[in-house]
Amino acid sequence: MGSMDNQNVVVIGGTSGIGLATAVTAASKGANVWAVSRSEDKVKTCSDSYPEITFSSLDTHNVQGLKSLFESVGAIDHIVAAATGAERTMAPFMDQTDEQFRAAFDKFWGYTHVARQGIPHLNETGSLTFISGTPARKCNPGMSSVSCTGNAIEGLTRALALEVAPKRVNAVAPGLISTGMFDSLGDNKNAALANMGKNIPLGRVGEADEVAKAIVMIMENSYITGTTIDVDGGVLLP
Ligand SMILES: NC(=O)c1ccc[n+]([C@@H]2O[C@H](COP(=O)([O-])OP(=O)(O)OC[C@H]3O[C@@H](n4cnc5c(N)ncnc54)[C@H](OP(=O)(O)O)[C@@H]3O)[C@@H](O)[C@H]2O)c1
Repeated sequence: MGSMDNQNVVVIGGTSGIGLATAVTAASKGANVWAVSRSEDKVKTCSDSYPEITFSSLDTHNVQGLKSLFESVGAIDHIVAAATGAERTMAPFMDQTDEQFRAAFDKFWGYTHVARQGIPHLNETGSLTFISGTPARKCNPGMSSVSCTGNAIEGLTRALALEVAPKRVNAVAPGLISTGMFDSLGDNKNAALANMGKNIPLGRVGEADEVAKAIVMIMENSYITGTTIDVDGGVLLP
């Protein structure tokens, strides 16, 4: 018997990093889990590794596809919006074009699509969890687009939580987490992340399953709504 037996969980952006770790953690507690992302290759690899989870290919910007997915699942207990879903330009605001700055908000529009299509299918005590990030509230130079996107997500979290209660809406804000997001660093990934970790109070970057545990805690705690939970090794401390 698992604590999430017979619960239906849908993870958008669930084939890598935080989303995949959430799907795996929820499934290990007995939930029926559906997880999607764009890449057929990632869907195939994940399906082979985790046959207990139903993976399929879907872009978070495909509104009709989201509608069909949520309808096919039926009654849903928990939805997680974890897709990156955007091109981010890490540069000072004044050096970015309007187009580059706007592009970062594609992550936010992806989340609004998930909310609009998914919430009608959520059970009355169900939850929707977005993934924000520490730059929303502690922004280093060059991260304005990520910071503003995170603030939009955390603002939507509070607004929606009031509008759709008793359904619950929350966000989790990860700090630096070792995921596929840093694969572009290639062979330098581990060394670069270890170096970045030295400036974090806990002395290291986080792991995807440490963020997943917070997301699943939100699913299981029926009295949490409208909040953002930080999982960041202490980065937000003054
Ligand atoms: N890692 C960190 O340090 C960190 C820090 C703060 C916030 N975050 C946030 O945490 C969330 C998860 O990121 P992660 O670190 O776990 O990265 P990741 O390992 O790269 O995973 C991202 C997931 O999103 C999927 N995805 C991307 N664009 C998509 C789209 N348009 N439609 C559907 N799925 C899409 C990816 O698969 P496909 O490529 O197949 O689509 C993948 O499954 C993101 O929102 C990210 O901004 C991460």
